[in-house]
Amino acid sequence: MNSTIDKKLAELGVSEAAGLAPLFAEVRARFDADAAVATDEFAWKAFRDAWLGRKNGVLARITDNWLKPAAPELKRAVGAALNELRAHVEARIEGRRLAIESGAGSATAARDAVDLSLPGVTRPIGSRHLLRQVFQEIEDIFVSIGFSVVEGPEIETPYYNFEALNIPEHHPVRDDMDTFYLELPNGAATPLLLRTHTSPVQIRTMEKHEPPVRVIVPGKVYRRDNPDATHSFAFHQIEGLAVDTDITFCDFTGTIDYFVKQFFGASVKTRFRPSYFPFTEPSVEFDVSCPFCGGSGTAASGGTCSKCKGAGWIELFGAGMVDPAVYGFVNYDATKVSGFAFGIGIDRLAMLKYGIDDIQVFFQNDVRFLRQFP
Ligand code: DAH
Repeated sequence: MNSTIDKKLAELGVSEAAGLAPLFAEVRARFDADAAVATDEFAWKAFRDAWLGRKNGVLARITDNWLKPAAPELKRAVGAALNELRAHVEARIEGRRLAIESGAGSATAARDAVDLSLPGVTRPIGSRHLLRQVFQEIEDIFVSIGFSVVEGPEIETPYYNFEALNIPEHHPVRDDMDTFYLELPNGAATPLLLRTHTSPVQIRTMEKHEPPVRVIVPGKVYRRDNPDATHSFAFHQIEGLAVDTDITFCDFTGTIDYFVKQFFGASVKTRFRPSYFPFTEPSVEFDVSCPFCGGSGTAASGGTCSKCKGAGWIELFGAGMVDPAVYGFVNYDATKVSGFAFGIGIDRLAMLKYGIDDIQVFFQNDVRFLRQFP
């Protein structure tokens, strides 16, 4: 290789002198690395001038320093290599210009260099299950009026699930809750069962705290029910309990009415009917005026409203004033305190509010269902 070329190459910062091909390859590699940086118009112009500038561009300098002084026997080869390089440089510079103009400059550059300014890759993370959303909605309403959220165990002793709630061993209401007992080793201190309602957490809360108590208890409960459109062996409740020295029946119905209006809309009405629960006295069942037909019992189409079956009212949940007998189990003075309790079926409320007619869809986790409640 001609020594003039070697010297000029050294000037350009290109050190390889072993032969023509590696020399031009090295220049080309430098060019390609530079090209990746030309991602906007400004950078592209500087890049173009650096390589194609008439006087001081790299190609002009190669012409002056390598081609012109080359020995006659090398001229053809240097000329051919230079032409090839020029074709590559011009095509690539034009390509960058088009890419920048069409806004794809950074995407093209990303092939050559990691562009840290690009937004990250977003992966879908799903959404909350409708039941979770309804839990949250109800919790928010009660928290806003001074209730706290507490939880309790899903595996309970009969004492908390029944006895302390004033349901002694042979009481007929246990039939409704015929349920799942755990198989335990012989000699276990107490039988254990999957709780049949969230009410045991009333007892657990009052055992730990002196009045005043205002809590709601979201959770899962279990009963030996055969699955159909309205029954499942696992379902969800929110228990409520408020106990203080001066809580009246008016506080009770006012609180429930407030909750129901917040949940279904200000235009609904509530009513209560006498009922029976061993742990409340008096006990009631709360109804809401049918939110679908406005309480008329007649559908917009003129026929009977299918939601309330023409009744104009829909049964919501059980509640009542805490039975004084329950206070005896938690060492509260029944002559000094009073309070109310309620037990809301979440699945049922979610079905009502969102027009779902089969409870099983909550547990099947079919994404076509879940996606309707983002
Ligand atoms: N625990 C009852 C059930 O699961 C629901 C209930 C009714 C809870 C009345 C209460 C209440 O706290 O006062 O059937």
